[in-house]
Amino acid sequence: MKHLLKLLDLSTEEIIDILNLADQLKYELKHGIPHPHLKGKTLGMIFQKSSTRTRVSFETGMYQLGGYPLFLSSNDLQIGRGEPVQDTARVLSRYLNGIMIRTFEQSEVETLAEYGSIPIINGLTDFCHPCQVLADLMTIREFKGSFDGLKLCFIGDGNNMANSLIVGGLKVGMAVSIACPKDYQPPKEILDFAAKYDNFEITDSPAQAAKDADVLYTDVWASMGQEGEAEKRKKAFAGYQINDDIMALAKADAMVLHCLPAHREEEITAKVFEEHANEIFEEAENRLHAQKAVMVKLMA
Ligand code: CP
Ligand code: NVA
Repeated sequence: MKHLLKLLDLSTEEIIDILNLADQLKYELKHGIPHPHLKGKTLGMIFQKSSTRTRVSFETGMYQLGGYPLFLSSNDLQIGRGEPVQDTARVLSRYLNGIMIRTFEQSEVETLAEYGSIPIINGLTDFCHPCQVLADLMTIREFKGSFDGLKLCFIGDGNNMANSLIVGGLKVGMAVSIACPKDYQPPKEILDFAAKYDNFEITDSPAQAAKDADVLYTDVWASMGQEGEAEKRKKAFAGYQINDDIMALAKADAMVLHCLPAHREEEITAKVFEEHANEIFEEAENRLHAQKAVMVKLMA
């Protein structure tokens, strides 16, 4: 594993290795055991979109590993004024030991990896959010003990989160069901991947997808960059909500996850959100541990 560009690139074994190391790093942090695997190393963090969790967890994680994180807003970089990503990659590769990038186009992340000579980590694109889903898988295994026999259900937009959950969930052996409106399905590349699995289901019925689920997951109806479509999307996604009716169809001990930020009373009711806040905020914490594991695997 040279980069983390998308979960499609990782084997099941590589995913499980990351989760195991993440569990170990979480244990070490909680018990005050130092783990300076990246002493003296630097991580550049390029942000073309906003972030709370990704920025703070990468920055803190790098510090805990003994390294140094550089926050690089695209507003300040020459990339924001049109310097090609091919050149940025070759320049930054001469200063840094790794780059985390959050941007729009997946191709930009792939180009950075192609032209650079250091590990590249995808911190969210319009296509996928692999770091989030590694933390999600870590959280599911932490609460449920294993992935065996579990059904993961995602309700909402066929977006970056849905894409990574489908790939990650299927690769670790869970059944995956997706409910999204017909016009908002995941892209062909993801559906082609999922078609190889007989425990994958896609429907436009949230009730059907939620039936007997062990994990229910949702995300905002309008992602970063889609703010102009927010009103249109509110109409298209009405009914694609995790609420008491949906919870009643899932298993009695189903857990609820949300990558955050959440829009209460849109994709999830405030009641369900608060009833499952324990899981949702452990999930947010696990971003830190999962990403530290990714950085150690790629950069140590
Ligand atoms: N879930 C997530 O990636 O959060 P941020 O946008 O705050 O980084
Ligand atoms: N789908 C959301 C995820 C945020 C973590 C977005 O891209 O804005």
